[in-house]
Amino acid sequence: MSRIALATGANQGLGLALVAGLAQRLDRDDVVYLTGRNQQRLAAAAASINGSRAKVRTELLDVATVDSANHLGTTRTLRAFAPILRDSGRLIVVASSLGTLHWLAPVLHERFEDLPTLAAVDEVTCAWRDAVRDGSAFWDVSGAPTPAQAAVPLIDLVLDEIPLDTYYGQLIRGTTVLPWKP
Ligand SMILES: NC(=O)c1ccc[n+]([C@@H]2O[C@H](COP(=O)([O-])OP(=O)(O)OC[C@H]3O[C@@H](n4cnc5c(N)ncnc54)[C@H](OP(=O)(O)O)[C@@H]3O)[C@@H](O)[C@H]2O)c1
Repeated sequence: MSRIALATGANQGLGLALVAGLAQRLDRDDVVYLTGRNQQRLAAAAASINGSRAKVRTELLDVATVDSANHLGTTRTLRAFAPILRDSGRLIVVASSLGTLHWLAPVLHERFEDLPTLAAVDEVTCAWRDAVRDGSAFWDVSGAPTPAQAAVPLIDLVLDEIPLDTYYGQLIRGTTVLPWKP
């Protein structure tokens, strides 16, 4: 059976590096969807990919809506794709390591502990967004790896023969499981 991969926010940066890497490592019958919210930028991104074996297709996909901005884009995307995921498929959420609880203000840690549902995650995320807006939250985003560097372990995660339950529900960097709280 041919394989299908889809990357959101893929017209530049990490998303584009992921599409390029997947297209090179997947087979000719496989398809990689390069998705984003602007047709011209999608076309330019697709044209910039060299040496791909798999088919690269572009699709418009904006993970935000007018009323919720992008803070709920991740959980919205999970809800949309989980019901159509094949048995051996994977949903991978790419988070900045600066977004782990370790880097958040200690006063905010307890907000994110033991959240039981996606709805609860959405609720707390919006509260955190509000804290950012009112200036009570702050973090420094310097020192991140380049998109190409960051894409390497993610492509390994997609394509390597890792038992499906190895990282289920876990926060990982490369192959290292990280604690959800300090
Ligand atoms: N770069 C790294 O090394 C690295 C490492 C770990 C984690 N991350 C995480 O990976 C994500 C991407 O990082 P990046 O460095 O590649 O950022 P980036 O260069 O700013 O790219 C962000 C991408 O998201 C798209 N986007 C924004 N809003 C969208 C929406 N509503 N719907 C669909 N696509 C949307 C943008 O498309 P438009 O052109 O339409 O704005 C753009 O293609 C971030 O969450 C970052 O924290 C990055």
